[in-house]
Amino acid sequence: LMPIYDKPMIYYPLTTLMSCGIKDILIICNPYHLNDFKDLLGNGKQWGIEIQYKSQPSPDGIAQAFLLGKDFLEDKNVALILGDNLFYGNNFEKNLKEANQEKNGATLFAYPVSDPSRYGIVNFNKDTNKVDTIIEKPSNPTSNFAVTGLYFYDNNVIDYAENLTPSARNELEITDINKRYLAENNLKVQILGSGMAWLDTGTFDSLQEAGTFIRTLEKRQGLKIGSPEETAWRNKLINDHELMVLASEISKSSYGSYLINLIKPKFLKRMN
Ligand code: G1P
Repeated sequence: LMPIYDKPMIYYPLTTLMSCGIKDILIICNPYHLNDFKDLLGNGKQWGIEIQYKSQPSPDGIAQAFLLGKDFLEDKNVALILGDNLFYGNNFEKNLKEANQEKNGATLFAYPVSDPSRYGIVNFNKDTNKVDTIIEKPSNPTSNFAVTGLYFYDNNVIDYAENLTPSARNELEITDINKRYLAENNLKVQILGSGMAWLDTGTFDSLQEAGTFIRTLEKRQGLKIGSPEETAWRNKLINDHELMVLASEISKSSYGSYLINLIKPKFLKRMN
């Protein structure tokens, strides 16, 4: 499930889900921008995935995703990623795949930040290291571990969402879902280490910072971050030939050449 707010960001959360091995995706967005996303991404078949769409008529909170996505989910487990969250790091794919294989409970990722009052935060017990409390946007934070916008839940999440009451800001809070899993003793929180970058783009400053970060990495390494074609190919959702077809359609652009160069060494090797 992907509630979306910033259009250009979509490729980052989308490829994050794809790299966990998730192929069935529901994009949830306000009614005004839903068609833009449909035009941009289509049904996902080109990348070996299936994308469906659902509109959220009014911004009633992140946890509403589970009510809007109830028919889509049926009895399955779910990963939810926020459309303005960007994750980048080496071992992250391993963490994701592990979280995605959990059958029961919830898995969250916490990340140390300098401005915890902007987020849901996790307090860990000093003696046991277990999660003590989770608090949404505390004015006096007692921990700097923010809950990132990527959540893995078992199917109970639908029931928990149906029993939520709106918060003071009149939203169905994802933090209340997490608190419920904590109360049920069924919540895991993985701390993302210093080798990981977690950026959100919910403010002008943070959007600018994320843009600079990605640009620097891409320029320095000659790699692309958040490429759906490349992610699909690396995760074997599409084969060499299918990637070549996608790349040829845009072969005149530098992005097309980048994609062609991914498979070129392989083809050359085969010809020798
Ligand atoms: C939301 C969640 C918050 C979480 C954050 C991550 O905040 O409510 O718990 O830490 O996403 O980006 P919001 O986007 O509503 O400010």
